[in-house]
Amino acid sequence: MAQNRKKKIGLIGGGQIGGNLALLAVQKGLGDVVLYDIPAAEGMVKGKALDINQLSAVDGYDCRVTGSTDWKDVAGSDVIIITAGVPRKPGMSREDLLEINLKIMKDVAGNIKQHAPDAFVINVANPLDAMVYALHKISGLPKNMVAGMAGVLDTSRFKCFVAEALGCSIRDVEALVLGGHGDDMVPLVRHSTVGGVPLTELLPKEKLDAIIKRTREGGAELVGLYKTGSAYFGPAASSIAMAESYIFDRKRVLPAAALLEGQYGISGYFFGTPVQIGAGGVEKVITVDLNAAEKAELEKSFQSVKKTVDSVTL
Ligand SMILES: NC(=O)c1ccc[n+]([C@@H]2O[C@H](COP(=O)([O-])OP(=O)(O)OC[C@H]3O[C@@H](n4cnc5c(N)ncnc54)[C@H](O)[C@@H]3O)[C@@H](O)[C@H]2O)c1
Repeated sequence: MAQNRKKKIGLIGGGQIGGNLALLAVQKGLGDVVLYDIPAAEGMVKGKALDINQLSAVDGYDCRVTGSTDWKDVAGSDVIIITAGVPRKPGMSREDLLEINLKIMKDVAGNIKQHAPDAFVINVANPLDAMVYALHKISGLPKNMVAGMAGVLDTSRFKCFVAEALGCSIRDVEALVLGGHGDDMVPLVRHSTVGGVPLTELLPKEKLDAIIKRTREGGAELVGLYKTGSAYFGPAASSIAMAESYIFDRKRVLPAAALLEGQYGISGYFFGTPVQIGAGGVEKVITVDLNAAEKAELEKSFQSVKKTVDSVTL
């Protein structure tokens, strides 16, 4: 009988998000993991790998983690998730990370091109939309095999605040956040529902405005609390949802940064919109019908992304 081989998941960056990604990938049985980082972080990735492999015995997980500082170990990965890069500290914007993280992305994307050109690659590093743009350009991967994770997390934050405000189960909240991963992202209240009931019928405008503001500043709120870095549990779980949809061909419709080719009048930039993720990677890029006010907000978000992307030199 033909055996399906286990998938191989390359996690580039073994820091806060990378470690949580490794744990979730094993717990969800996505495949064997290579947790890669720079030589200075060798002890950390080898330690995290060993720690997770020992934990596997408790619940009987079959997937294994290898800590590595050698790209040869990443070669042939089916999925790669990039968290290599510096996180924000209090007072910093994501754009402040551009120079330092672009340098890292040049190294990472070049290595992906060389060692794992067939992988579905999810970028998490910030500034998100500019980093995924650089990744696509440098790696030369097809547009359907490259995506940025931000929308799943931003939407999850929005849903969390709605559920808290209503005291209802988060399972029944359906919501969507469009646009760039910055302070002018666009939570779409008009398209959000709770158990099928429009959100606008359940919460007054002032409360909705406060939820939108808190969602937009959700990353900064956590940076302010942690002080030494940014969110990691949420980003890891959100990236795993995307990887899982690819590995198991779930064809989930999730918001993510995908290459736009005319959608919303935008071409040549990665920007947040719902996409269908299945065995073909980003199989569909879906456009949401917006009213004039929503279009204006999306345009504002796009101009912020465009400004950062246009300053990228490759
Ligand atoms: N997209 C999102 O929604 C979202 C959310 C939170 C954080 N982030 C971003 O994710 C990134 C990682 O955050 P973190 O908290 O895990 O940071 P972290 O500092 O804990 O980990 C980053 C790791 O990258 C490694 N690294 C640096 N250069 C590398 C290279 N050339 N190759 C491989 N690894 C390299 C570092 O050694 C470090 O271990 C940051 O840029 C952060 O801003 C994105």
